[in-house]
Amino acid sequence: MTSRFSLAGKTAIVTGGTGVLGSAIAQGLAAAGARVGILGRRAARAKLVCEAISAVGGEAVPLVADVLDPAQLVAAREQALAAWGSIDILVNAAGGNIPAATIAGQHSFFDLVPNALDQVVRLNFHGTVFPAQVFGATMAERGAGAIINISSMAAQKPLTRVLGYAAAKAAIDNFTRWLATELALKYGPRLRVNAIAPGFFIGEQNRALLLNDDGSLTQRGQQIIDHTPLRRFGEPDELVGAAVWLASDAARFVTGIVVPIDGGFSAFGGI
Ligand SMILES: NC(=O)c1ccc[n+]([C@@H]2O[C@H](COP(=O)([O-])OP(=O)(O)OC[C@H]3O[C@@H](n4cnc5c(N)ncnc54)[C@H](OP(=O)(O)O)[C@@H]3O)[C@@H](O)[C@H]2O)c1
Repeated sequence: MTSRFSLAGKTAIVTGGTGVLGSAIAQGLAAAGARVGILGRRAARAKLVCEAISAVGGEAVPLVADVLDPAQLVAAREQALAAWGSIDILVNAAGGNIPAATIAGQHSFFDLVPNALDQVVRLNFHGTVFPAQVFGATMAERGAGAIINISSMAAQKPLTRVLGYAAAKAAIDNFTRWLATELALKYGPRLRVNAIAPGFFIGEQNRALLLNDDGSLTQRGQQIIDHTPLRRFGEPDELVGAAVWLASDAARFVTGIVVPIDGGFSAFGGI
């Protein structure tokens, strides 16, 4: 049974592997046996994540690239292929909200700046589609691979303030189902595409929104906890089980789904 979850001999690319959630997922995939490419724009941070993986006996290389630049993604893919020969898993964890696209405080929907909307949609949606094209192409050639996109609770339920981010994540849910169908029908049943929808985790981008300087909850943080039956934020390594499952042969009949890891947030009606 355990061996079905093993990623030994497989190669994974984690975009946003330099971030809070992406680095935890990358470390989890490495612990399950995968060699991992840590992809992000911050070279020093990518190196640190690789060192953390090596320190516990794993194998990882930094891949410095911008997910919005297909030429840089192709260069990263060639670097990974030169090192390891194949790419079996892609986790699209690069993304996040953009402050200028947030409708907060005194601002209203009618103030939303088109450029900010473009930026947040491009980062989250195009920044998932482009890596799926570049790394998915090599999986399609071999007729095997697993792509895992990172969605959000914002895709399923309206959350105040984050219009563009939510719309882009909703597009990721739709894209996940679309690409799952497209790749399986055209390239065979060993190519799968799924998504994980994290609930609320303390990250670099949302820390100030959820926690005050003294560690107490902001009003928004409290509202989230009030709507989370498990009554806490998630820990990044709580995404690992689902990521390993979706990447492994244990999920070989699973494609086109979005798995919520949210402490019950999506199940709760608030009453
Ligand atoms: N934290 C949460 O509660 C939560 C909840 C639901 C969904 N999510 C999603 O989970 C993912 C990771 O979030 P996080 O909380 O871990 O945030 P984070 O720590 O800020 O990580 C974001 C990552 O995206 C990368 N990135 C941003 N722009 C990029 C670009 N143009 N090219 C390449 N990489 C880029 C960053 O790497 P570089 O700066 O090195 O480029 C960083 O590794 C995001 O998609 C986010 O929307 C987070």
